[in-house]
Amino acid sequence: MLNEDMKEILFTAHDIEERTIEIAKAISRDYEGTVPLFVGVLKGAVIFFADLIRHIEIPIEIDFIATSSYGASTQSSGVVRILKDLDVPLQGRDVVIVEDIVDSGLTLTYLRDTLLRRGAKSIRIATAFDKPEGRKVPIVPDYFCFTVPNLFIVGYGLDYAEGYRHLPYVGVLKESVYTHE
Ligand code: PRP
Repeated sequence: MLNEDMKEILFTAHDIEERTIEIAKAISRDYEGTVPLFVGVLKGAVIFFADLIRHIEIPIEIDFIATSSYGASTQSSGVVRILKDLDVPLQGRDVVIVEDIVDSGLTLTYLRDTLLRRGAKSIRIATAFDKPEGRKVPIVPDYFCFTVPNLFIVGYGLDYAEGYRHLPYVGVLKESVYTHE
């Protein structure tokens, strides 16, 4: 069973849901009177994105962008590539970029700069997890559920070699799982 691969559970589905609702309420208040565009960063953000937007209480639009900065390893390569681009024009839009995790900050720095260059009026960042110890560039999420330690975590969208994304909780993977390859 997959939970046997976990050294420790950091956040249960219930913990995550509670914080997601709080963040959704804060975003709904902050953007009242506007129709923000929520941009989900595939693939990792898909679960948080789906949960977050269902608690947003104002009109919004959604779109997706896919980036890749990691290979099948536990370390960031530092290279950001757009694998799938947005469909809607950004000119004059208030954008909320939704991520599963901010680690080095390279993905979000690149995305923020790119979307601003394309004419977005404002950009804020909402992430399920923030790992400040991983930062290589200074970027601070506007909304986050939890700060996480500098450990390799999986679940709730976060993968190891494309696995574990569908787990409803977040856990620390046993080292034996990735040293046996
Ligand atoms: C992960 C995560 C973020 C990014 C964060 O995506 O979803 O997009 O890395 O790391 P950073 O702050 O160091 O840039 P990844 O590129 O692994 O793709 P995925 O979402 O498909 O897993």
